[in-house]
Amino acid sequence: MAQIFPKWWNQTPALALVGTLVGGGVVTFALYWWGSPWHTDVGYKPTQPIEYSHKLHAGDMQIDCRYCHAYVERGPHGGVPPTQTCMNCHAQVKKDSPKLEALRESWKTGKSVEWVRIHKTPDFAYFNHSAHMGVGVGENRAAVGCETCHGRIDTMEVVKQTQPLSMAWCLDCHSDPAPNLRPVEQLTAMGWKGDLAWNEKATKIAATLNPPGSLSAAAKRGPNGELLTYATAGCSGCHR
Ligand code: HEC
Ligand code: HEC
Ligand code: HEC
Ligand code: HEC
Ligand code: HEC
Repeated sequence: MAQIFPKWWNQTPALALVGTLVGGGVVTFALYWWGSPWHTDVGYKPTQPIEYSHKLHAGDMQIDCRYCHAYVERGPHGGVPPTQTCMNCHAQVKKDSPKLEALRESWKTGKSVEWVRIHKTPDFAYFNHSAHMGVGVGENRAAVGCETCHGRIDTMEVVKQTQPLSMAWCLDCHSDPAPNLRPVEQLTAMGWKGDLAWNEKATKIAATLNPPGSLSAAAKRGPNGELLTYATAGCSGCHR
């Protein structure tokens, strides 16, 4: 009689077991990785309604970030530019390009282009751009550059998220901001690096700062001189 099941079938239970172990491992790892603070949405890169390129506009053409993200120094949100900002050029430049059809449509109808939001912290966590654009007072002014939190935007055809935006990520910098500070004039510069003199200055500036959740010198003691930790030094700075 011909065999109904091929020979390898006998090994199926063993294979299934190996499969379960490997599969289980993969699932466990996946849960660990997706849940870990260093994963959250990094690489997220949705398709936009217009193929707008930061590499072309902010990189090659060197248009300053603030020309389009005009509110970044003044409020919580950088915001995306209104159609008018694009039309300042595209009423003339490439005005018949099919790639700008959605832009012209928005201009005609007055309805904003529906850009897909990429970076987003949950509503229960408070983030404010302006608080990072100029920190410290007087002599001790500095900024956290766009590049530090958003990467080399000037090289991206399509914007993608490069940092996790998780609580661990926020606290990591808040506990040791010095290496992430730069002169305010360099806020939007890409590829900027501090020299030795700046690094020394940044360490001094950092000692005057007190970001929520930090373990910096300024945050270590409470009003009665008691030692503050992470937990007491300002959950409410970000969870209001
Ligand atoms: C000519 C206008 C323009 C300039 C200049 C510009 N951007 Fe943008 N930016 C946009 C538009 C439009 C979007 C929304 C579409 C997209 O994501 O590409 C955007 C999106 C972004 C986003 C993602 C927003 C989100 O949804 O999370 C970041 C971050 C960003 N820009 C940073 C920068 C930085 C940093 C610079 C300077 C190096 C810069 N941009 C220069 C127009 C501009
Ligand atoms: C300061 C002027 C200026 C501004 C502001 C500007 N652009 Fe441009 N844009 C240009 C130039 C110049 C080109 C390249 C033209 C070429 O390739 O010769 C271009 C090219 C483009 C292209 C490619 C068009 C094609 O046919 O290849 C798109 C899409 C585009 N821009 C979208 C936008 C959007 C969306 C905005 C607003 C967020 C914007 N631009 C703001 C000057 C500008
Ligand atoms: C300290 C980190 C940090 C710095 C520095 C920073 N960003 Fe952001 N950015 C974020 C976070 C976090 C979000 C998400 C905010 C939210 O959900 O409210 C974001 C969101 C954005 C968005 C999406 C829309 C919005 O406004 O929420 C744009 C555009 C943007 N950033 C542009 C910029 C530009 C331009 C600069 C430099 C001038 C900059 N960012 C500097 C952390 C930063
Ligand atoms: C790369 C460094 C860096 C990162 C990343 C960062 N911050 Fe900050 N943050 C700072 C510095 C520096 C200050 C200024 C502290 C000061 O002025 O004393 C600050 C200040 C703040 C403040 C105080 C604002 C105020 O009005 O008092 C809040 C709130 C805040 N950050 C929230 C966040 C949140 C939420 C995240 C993560 C989504 C984040 N930050 C990520 C460096 C950073
Ligand atoms: C520097 C700002 C900052 C401080 C200070 C801070 N948090 Fe958060 N927290 C965040 C952000 C941003 C998120 C959202 C993270 C995400 O989307 O993955 C968050 C998320 C959380 C969550 C939701 C679970 C999670 O991990 O996503 C809890 C619970 C929480 N925080 C508790 C606390 C407590 C308790 C403290 C004080 C010890 C604290 N936070 C201090 C920024 C902060």
